[in-house]
Amino acid sequence: MQFVREEIRRMKAYEPGKSEDYVKRKYGLSRVVKLASNENPYGVSPKAIESLRKFNSELLSKYPETFPPQLLEAIESYIGWPKDMVVVGAGLDGVLETIFRLFINRGDSVLLPVPTYPYYHTVIQVFGAKGVFVERNEEFRIDVDRIITTAKREKPKLIIVCSPNNPTGLAEREEDVRALIESCNCPVFIDEAYGEFADYDGVSLKHLFDYENVIIGRTMSKAFGLANLRIGYAVMSEELRKEYLKATTPFPVSTLSANAAAKALEDKEFLHYVLKKNAEERKRLIKELGNYFKVYRSNANFVFADVGNASEFVESLMKMGIIVRDCSKFYGCCRGHVRITVGRKEENDLLISAVSKLR
Ligand SMILES: Cc1ncc(COP(=O)(O)O)c(C=O)c1O
Repeated sequence: MQFVREEIRRMKAYEPGKSEDYVKRKYGLSRVVKLASNENPYGVSPKAIESLRKFNSELLSKYPETFPPQLLEAIESYIGWPKDMVVVGAGLDGVLETIFRLFINRGDSVLLPVPTYPYYHTVIQVFGAKGVFVERNEEFRIDVDRIITTAKREKPKLIIVCSPNNPTGLAEREEDVRALIESCNCPVFIDEAYGEFADYDGVSLKHLFDYENVIIGRTMSKAFGLANLRIGYAVMSEELRKEYLKATTPFPVSTLSANAAAKALEDKEFLHYVLKKNAEERKRLIKELGNYFKVYRSNANFVFADVGNASEFVESLMKMGIIVRDCSKFYGCCRGHVRITVGRKEENDLLISAVSKLR
């Protein structure tokens, strides 16, 4: 299509994972378990659902406020980020895109420790930027020295650190991220989409926000189970926030979603239930699956493993009604790498039993 920008024409179309319905139809199955998208298997806070039910429908024809007050206040009391340093967006992906609009011109370098979340690569390509990839070490932690040396050479306009990292699962050490922030003279975006799971059993970096060059992002899609409401948020200096607000779409979040998200943030009981269950099941999965192949430690709601041949493994599990994510084509991964979302107990039982039949 001649009118479309060359950057986009050169890109390969995104290949979404297979849906439950597709797998049911293809293999004639009545039950399929999806452990491929790191969704919350425990659903949503009842308080958020009540807020959605009670929403005043007269507001539907009005534009929402750019700064949803209830949500900003809930974020402030939930995580301790001052509300005049917080922005919200259409998912953390939406926030990330605005961050690119702020810093990235065509040809600029963006540094990523790999493997990591594939959508960063998409945005890099869309903006015509140059991805500079620095491999993680054997534990899949960031290699701070290599990042600092590479940053000196490549002068990136943005560094993205995903912690806990998707797909490998570990949260970064605070001292490593601090060293990186202090040595690299550029903005550092810390993606804490899975930060809640790390807080429970690892290290969240949520208090590193007072560095001028740091932006930390979070989402309502994972621990809070609100993926369909599309709410992400981030903290940054007040000065930077002023610039951010010039670059964002004016109404990124609906009032309906914002109010429900605020209620979800207030519901500590539901959150603790989710984090406790996830931690128990994650521990069990790592132990049980570890009988069959290498499974890495995780601070997230998924585990990363090396199964030898990922595409064969994923296909065989799919035939048995279980969908997991083949990561073998992610930058920096190898042919055996898969990511498996930690499901509910009964879902994990099905997975463990299916894997035992394959090995
Ligand atoms: C590391 C990471 N960042 C961001 C996102 C996107 O989150 P959201 O649903 O808020 O756009 C995801 C979703 O899977 C993710 O894994």
